[in-house]
Amino acid sequence: MSIDREGLASLRGRTSAKWRFYPPEVLPAWVAEMDFTLAEPIARALHDAVDRSDTGYRWADEVPQALSTFTRAEWDWSVDPANVIVLADVMSSIAQALVHLTDAGAQVVINPPVYPPFFSTVEKVSARQVREVPLVVSDGAYRLDLAGLEEAFSDPQVQAYVLCSPHNPTGTVHSESDLFAVAQLASAHGVVVIADEIHAPMTLTGARHHPFLSVVDGLVGLRAVSCVSASKTWNIPGLKCAQLVASDSVVEQLRDVIPLEATFGVGHFGVLGTLAAYRDGGPWRAEMLDVLDRRRRQLAEGLYRLRGGSDDLAAGVVPSVGAPAHAGGGPGCGADGEGATSGQLRAALRGARRGPRPDQLRHE
Ligand SMILES: Cc1ncc(COP(=O)(O)O)c(C=O)c1O
Repeated sequence: MSIDREGLASLRGRTSAKWRFYPPEVLPAWVAEMDFTLAEPIARALHDAVDRSDTGYRWADEVPQALSTFTRAEWDWSVDPANVIVLADVMSSIAQALVHLTDAGAQVVINPPVYPPFFSTVEKVSARQVREVPLVVSDGAYRLDLAGLEEAFSDPQVQAYVLCSPHNPTGTVHSESDLFAVAQLASAHGVVVIADEIHAPMTLTGARHHPFLSVVDGLVGLRAVSCVSASKTWNIPGLKCAQLVASDSVVEQLRDVIPLEATFGVGHFGVLGTLAAYRDGGPWRAEMLDVLDRRRRQLAEGLYRLRGGSDDLAAGVVPSVGAPAHAGGGPGCGADGEGATSGQLRAALRGARRGPRPDQLRHE
């Protein structure tokens, strides 16, 4: 199997946003759409559905159990299928959680530099106010500012926190102890935690993702949800299927208020693709992660050589260990989108130029 065999001519034949936003002479690299060949089990499920003319509304009943089986095998995280609400995508899941678990006009903490639609989802979709608690750089890596979070959570105007875990665009895979500290603070101050864990199955070799709800299992009083999806890892964002996993403390409340119309935003092909991904997408994902790992090393090696570094050193250099390979932003991603993309690239290049040596590699 080779997932990495699409030539430029075939890619230019694609009609999705990535390949149509810019004129044909531009090589697009602005949005999280992969250039790999679609995973065979997903392709088969979609082809079979077309052959059956099976193109009606979604029926998502099997998704919660498929997710639960996947999370148990992947992270030993027991998700009760009864706590899963299937929605169209992660950003609308975050919006539903914000609208129904906080008051109009409440403040919502996010950690810039962060995926730009976090700003617009809080402010424009949910009509809440952004409260920024930027990540801090500690020992050469981005991490959560626990003191800053505590200060923000102490403000009664702050009612929710949208955590990006793993964090896009920095690639930080938050430590279990930081996540637990966040949960304790949120629980103490009555702040709802909404964890965007869309990149979790893309965590690269050497790092370990800790699902927020598994870290905080049993913490009294915490109100939290995790928003997950197969869409980034298996490159099916256009099919529309995400899952909101609610803690026991909020699941009934959310079930009562999330409108049926929102659940009909889920695509039938999204359900079929998601089931195929969670059940049979393992080999494709393993190859994809391997390709990404090799690519980041190639990038760092090339940049390091450009700077006159020696081949020996370059062989072990990677730009960011444990990072999801995606750096969001770009057109269509909200007001900050375009600036963020070039800024992220500059930051990545700066990091790569500084080039950690092999003995400096570290996992978050
Ligand atoms: C951190 C993060 N959350 C959410 C999304 C968007 O997910 P969805 O299309 O499911 O809303 C992206 C897209 O790249 C992302 O990087």
